[in-house]
This record gives sequence, structure tokens and C-alpha cells, in this order.
Amino acid sequence: MDPLDRYEPLVDDFAAFRAVCERPLGHVARVNTIKTDVERAKRALDEEGVEFESPDWHPGLVKLDGTTTGRTWGAFHGWLHGQEEVSALPATVCDPKPGDRVFAACAAPGGKATQLAALADDRGLVVANDRNLGRLSALRFNAERLGVTSMAVTNRDAGNYSLAPFDFEAFDRALVDVPCSCEGTIRKNPDALDEWSLQRIESIAGTQKSILQRAVQATKSGGTVVYSTCTFAPEENEAVLDAVLDGEDCRLVEFECGLETRPGVTEWEGEHFDSSVERAKRVYPHLNDTGGFFCAKLEVTG
Ligand SMILES: C[S@@+](CC[C@H](N)C(=O)[O-])C[C@H]1O[C@@H](n2cnc3c(N)ncnc32)[C@H](O)[C@@H]1O
Repeated sequence: MDPLDRYEPLVDDFAAFRAVCERPLGHVARVNTIKTDVERAKRALDEEGVEFESPDWHPGLVKLDGTTTGRTWGAFHGWLHGQEEVSALPATVCDPKPGDRVFAACAAPGGKATQLAALADDRGLVVANDRNLGRLSALRFNAERLGVTSMAVTNRDAGNYSLAPFDFEAFDRALVDVPCSCEGTIRKNPDALDEWSLQRIESIAGTQKSILQRAVQATKSGGTVVYSTCTFAPEENEAVLDAVLDGEDCRLVEFECGLETRPGVTEWEGEHFDSSVERAKRVYPHLNDTGGFFCAKLEVTG
């Protein structure tokens, strides 16, 4: 059985969902506003003869027609960064302001962490952490290419992250883009489900809970924590939120995003979750012709 078949009860128009999962994704880039602005970057694409369009919900993204991001003049100069459309969502929801201290708990290779820095106008501090040292070199390369100066890179397990090296006691915001079973990346990576197993999902859910828990603890009262995955499994999404809502001082808040989405599910295979998980958003690939994604916004209350 195809692992995605288990989501038939959750997905309206399952045939459309299945059909779009068979179609490869197009190439999308984010304009890096640390080095340029959206209009200049689009003019440069026009001058290069590259056709593109921008999704209504995010004018700073360009969907390229007939080329890849890496072949554009803008990518070479750090004006553009290849980033899947839906993966631009969580940093947008996190919405950092200049001067904020932001924790990117699982940051490599850096698409979202560099986006956080750009949203904060490269003023403040983005602590970009990842447990995998090998992936940190890609993060550092991307941060340098994009001209980010407000980033500190750390190599720790985010599940027991210590603030001891810093001269502050809590972050203003955190982006928790956890490792996951990656079911929603099937359009980009047809092998994404080769290693799929329920045991793997259950094991990774433990890691996800500890990372989200620690990020909530490390964020100041009133601060924002965004949780995201690129998977459909409720075990890795709503069940993780439910566990953290239960144990930590935080609540889920509503947010607008401009994409067509479905609410988080409150019940899955006999398990019931806190009703507020409906405030999270599920992005199914057929709704906006993107990859699959899950995103939730929490406010720290304690
Ligand atoms: C979905 S990827 C992050 C993608 C990244 N946010 C981006 O936008 O480029 C998940 C990352 O979590 C890292 N990771 C896995 N377990 C971790 C842990 N316990 N603490 C910190 N990072 C972890 C992996 O090495 C991987 O780079």
C-alpha cells in the first residue's frame, strides 16, 4: 500500500491530491531583500529574458518558467534564493521585526533562517542551529552568499538547547522547522517515501516534541513560536502540538496566510487532540499546486 493512501479520510478530492503528487514541482525562488528589492530583482529577470510569475500570497517569490534558479544572474549575485513556494510560509508567519532575537532551531541548509534575517532587515539576531554539522556548511555558504550579517550559527541538539552562551535569557521568536518524514516533498523527490515506516514516524515524533518543547521554554512570554513540517502525518503534526500544549505554557493562535489551506485535524486513528489544533494549517499539494506542508503558530503564555 502507498503510504499516502492512509490520508484519504483527511483529504477532500483525494483523486486530485494523488494526481498532483505525480507531477514534478516547478522552480521557485525567493527575492533576497538584504541585497536587493523585489522590483529590481524582477527587472533583472526581465532583462535576462526569464519568464516568471509571482503567487498572490507572496509577491517576493518568483515561479520561474523554463529555467532553474541557479542559472539566473540573480542567484549568482545573491539576489535570489531557490526555495519551494510553501516553504516560504513559516518565516512569514513568524514575522520577525528588526532587533528581534530569533531562534531557528533546525536551520540547515538555511532557506528559512536566511528569510528570517531578511524579514528582520538583517538587524537583530538569528541564531541558526542544526544538529548536523555537515549540513551547517551549506547553511553558512547560503548565509554568506545572501549577505546575512545578523546570524550566529550553532551546532547543538535543539531538544536540550542551552542559552548559557548568550547574554540574554529568552528569544523573542522561534521557528521550529523540524526533521520529519517528508511525505509532502514527494513532488520534488520521488524517493521521499522509500524509507517510510510507521515506526520511523513514531520515533521522529519524539524528537519533534522535545524540540518544540524546548523552543517554547526558550522563548519569552508573549513571544511567537512557529512549528512546521513538510509532512501529512498527524502523529508528527497535531499530536506533537497536543503534547506540547499539554506540558508547556503556550496556546495556538489563528493566522492568515493567503494560501488555500485546511485546518488541523482533531482526531486521528482513535486519538483525539485539543480542539485548538484546528488553528494550524494543512497545505495539501493540489490546493495551491505546491508541495505539502503543515504550519502552526503558538504564543508563549508563561
Ligand atoms: C526540515 S530540515 C530543516 C530545513 C531548514 N529549516 C531550511 O529551511 O533550510 C530539518 C533539520 O533538522 C535537523 N535536526 C534533526 N534533529 C535535530 C535536533 N535534535 N536538533 C537540531 N536540529 C536537528 C536536521 O539536521 C535537518 O537539517
